Amino acid sequence: MSNRITFPSDFVWGAATASYQIEGGWDEDGKGESIWDRFSHTPGKVAEGHTGDIACDHYHRWREDVALMKELGLKAYRFSVSWPRVLPQGRGKVNQLGLDFYSRLVDELLRAGITPFATLYHWDLPQPLQDAGGWPERDVTGAFCEYAQAVSRALGDRVRHWMTMNEPHIISFLGYLDGVHAPGHTSREEMLAAAHHVLLAHGMAVPLIRANSKDAQVGIALDHYPQIPASESEADRKAALLQDGVLNRWFLDPLDGKGYPQDVVEHYRSDMRFVQAGDLQTMAAPIDFLGINYYFRYLVRSKEIPEAQNMPPTQFSTGEFTDMGWEVYPQGAYKLLKRLQADYSFPAFYFTENGAACPDHPDAQGEVNDPARISFIKRHLEQMHQAILEGVPLRGYFVWSLLDNFEWAFGYTKRFGIVYVDYPSQKRIPKASANWYRQVIAEGGFPTD
Ligand code: FCB
Repeated sequence: MSNRITFPSDFVWGAATASYQIEGGWDEDGKGESIWDRFSHTPGKVAEGHTGDIACDHYHRWREDVALMKELGLKAYRFSVSWPRVLPQGRGKVNQLGLDFYSRLVDELLRAGITPFATLYHWDLPQPLQDAGGWPERDVTGAFCEYAQAVSRALGDRVRHWMTMNEPHIISFLGYLDGVHAPGHTSREEMLAAAHHVLLAHGMAVPLIRANSKDAQVGIALDHYPQIPASESEADRKAALLQDGVLNRWFLDPLDGKGYPQDVVEHYRSDMRFVQAGDLQTMAAPIDFLGINYYFRYLVRSKEIPEAQNMPPTQFSTGEFTDMGWEVYPQGAYKLLKRLQADYSFPAFYFTENGAACPDHPDAQGEVNDPARISFIKRHLEQMHQAILEGVPLRGYFVWSLLDNFEWAFGYTKRFGIVYVDYPSQKRIPKASANWYRQVIAEGGFPTD
């Protein structure tokens, strides 16, 4: 007898993208330069010298792309707005043509019966703001508010679901500490200040969006990483707790009104001089949902205690990895949701990103078969479903990504789409996973094995 998994009838089935990764049109219609334009145009920064100059050419093909979403039966679409398209200098003069692009996109989505979920910042900071110091400079928060005002005023009558930021941790760590993302800096102090200002700008923008968008649901998307100690040793447990603090609690706690986690403050030994009176209250502006981006976990082994002193591992890798080298760990979806519900007071959750990179290519018939992606999504959804049954308010799921696209420092070498993009011709080919997902959406669930 086959069992079925059925999601709540109002569960939001969606797909996600981001402006720099799909739009192209990098200098069209008055758009200003972003840090990703600058970074990708700098030799040696992105695999094979790839840039987002053309990407999926969505800036010109948006109408067909919405038609494709409709054909897939998507209920919602998460996209991001390009800040330098709207404010080419980062602040000051608004570029109406830039706003018009998103206005047309939103109208087309609504005509297709697809709910728009807009993210304001998915990493394409206007270059002039970086020239003035970027996220480590407090002044950037005021510019972000101008931007949030301009976009929510223009779209707030039609967009009801907003995310301020995508992944404050990646913005600060990869951009300002590891240097593998734009702007490519490597400074711990800059990283900490950047993270602070991203959360602060978020908190400042929440009431502005609410004022411009009646009955808006406002949230933020964080990247989450379950930290699993590799053994039951005290050393590994402590290491996992600290890493949970660095990657997860550092962002979750201030958003939830708890301030920065003390154990991590001590670990950084930073003077935290960027924190000003009132900041922690501002950052904790009540939100309507927390966005969860989840791809993989960490199995944590203490580095401080010599290996020999550790107990033998009790937790092992699943041995299954995506094309990114990320471990496939579906139980992480359940663990995250339960943990977030237990430890925090966010009223609702969306899975705002989850998906897998696979080495996809069309076969002789021109079809793209991606059973590993179907299996990945399915197993993650099963875990989410279990959490819903146990009362976790998970309202929707956005697969990353609708289209193969510019995967940051990996350029076009990694394919995350449920739709294949043949870049030379810009032809879109829905993969087997897209057809599977269409059926899941239509039936509100799927049979279990
Ligand atoms: C997330 C990003 C998204 C995409 C996926 C694979 O960290 O938000 O843009 O690159 O990873």
